[in-house]
Amino acid sequence: MGVMKITDSITSVGVLNPNMRVFDIVMRTEFGTSYNSYLVKGSEKTALIEASHPRFFEYLRDNISGIADIGKIDYLVMNHNEPDHSGSIEKLLELNPELTILVSQAGSLYLKNIVNRADMKVQVVKDGDQVSLGDKTLHFINAPFLHWPDSMFTWCPEEKALFSCDFLGCHYCEPQMIDTKIPYPKAYEQAFEEYYQAIFGPFKPYVLKGLEKIKDLPIEYCCVSHGPVLTKDCRLKEAMDKYREWSTPKAKEHKSIPVFYCSAYGNTGRLAGAIAEGIREALPDAAVETFDIIEHDMGKLGALLNESDAFLIGSPTLNRDAVPPVWNLLAHVDAVNIQKRPVALFGSYGWSGEAVKNLSARLKDLKVNLFEKDFRVVFVPTEQDLEAAKAFGKEFAQSL
Ligand code: FEO
Repeated sequence: MGVMKITDSITSVGVLNPNMRVFDIVMRTEFGTSYNSYLVKGSEKTALIEASHPRFFEYLRDNISGIADIGKIDYLVMNHNEPDHSGSIEKLLELNPELTILVSQAGSLYLKNIVNRADMKVQVVKDGDQVSLGDKTLHFINAPFLHWPDSMFTWCPEEKALFSCDFLGCHYCEPQMIDTKIPYPKAYEQAFEEYYQAIFGPFKPYVLKGLEKIKDLPIEYCCVSHGPVLTKDCRLKEAMDKYREWSTPKAKEHKSIPVFYCSAYGNTGRLAGAIAEGIREALPDAAVETFDIIEHDMGKLGALLNESDAFLIGSPTLNRDAVPPVWNLLAHVDAVNIQKRPVALFGSYGWSGEAVKNLSARLKDLKVNLFEKDFRVVFVPTEQDLEAAKAFGKEFAQSL
């Protein structure tokens, strides 16, 4: 049950999912999540803002049914069409086939293939368009890449409510989903930051543009689609300030060049140490640290990799491939901003040594600037090998 009155005409009817621990296959959700959805009742028409994850439609249906007739809802506003919001539309349309879906142009294309229903009524709305519910109005604000190309915000000026979908949200779940009733503020703040890093970290310039678009709106309620509603008198300003701070480019004093590796018997690890030494010799001011991938939190390593000026990856070969933790780290790459990043590869191997070759193919797909040489050693590196590894690190650093 997640029904909560926000204003006289806006009710939160979304679904709580306190036990979720992994979102979108890869994202840890230590504090559960919610699929928020809001019913806005005007004097003439009613709109539902966002649907929900397909697995939880029955909860959304029951929440709405307690306060409105689903068959009489006029509009469904889809600010963003990832299936955690759009997945239940098909079931919603079974109960209300006349529902008109208000969506951005990009969103309309996605919905076509998500709902797969030819008779679906879709009305594309553009930046600045308005739809009247009678005494309430919905204004649409384009917010592309926050965090999909389809994203938009919806503003209801009469209620001073902004529906921002994922923007300013987080995976966090409490019985009352409003910022004035957060019993574990530290946990919420952790979830808020982790969510920003995972979802919006790759889109920082767009975050700043999004903030610019809403900065002059007199928002009393920011009705996000995951986590507690943010209010003017509680956490809204702080949340917007944090997004601005985290998204503003920072002048770096030193180049960051992390060296990531996995090592079954310490051989690739020794290469990592020697390569790092060579980099430090060439660039004494650079921040050069080695990271044994299995010893660290993968999310933090991913953030370090994404914020680096250049990085190196070392892997032994297992089963004719790089080892799974190395692939797992690459799954955290911000594919939007990693292009042209200088990268070098290395590793010790026993038989055929495909790890570097396979990693190289993946990194080329990601369009990084892959160093022309790699560094590989058979089994245990000799002192000469370690000297050569150091020289390899130095040469890579000098190429930056
Ligand atoms: Fe909550 Fe991007 O979906």
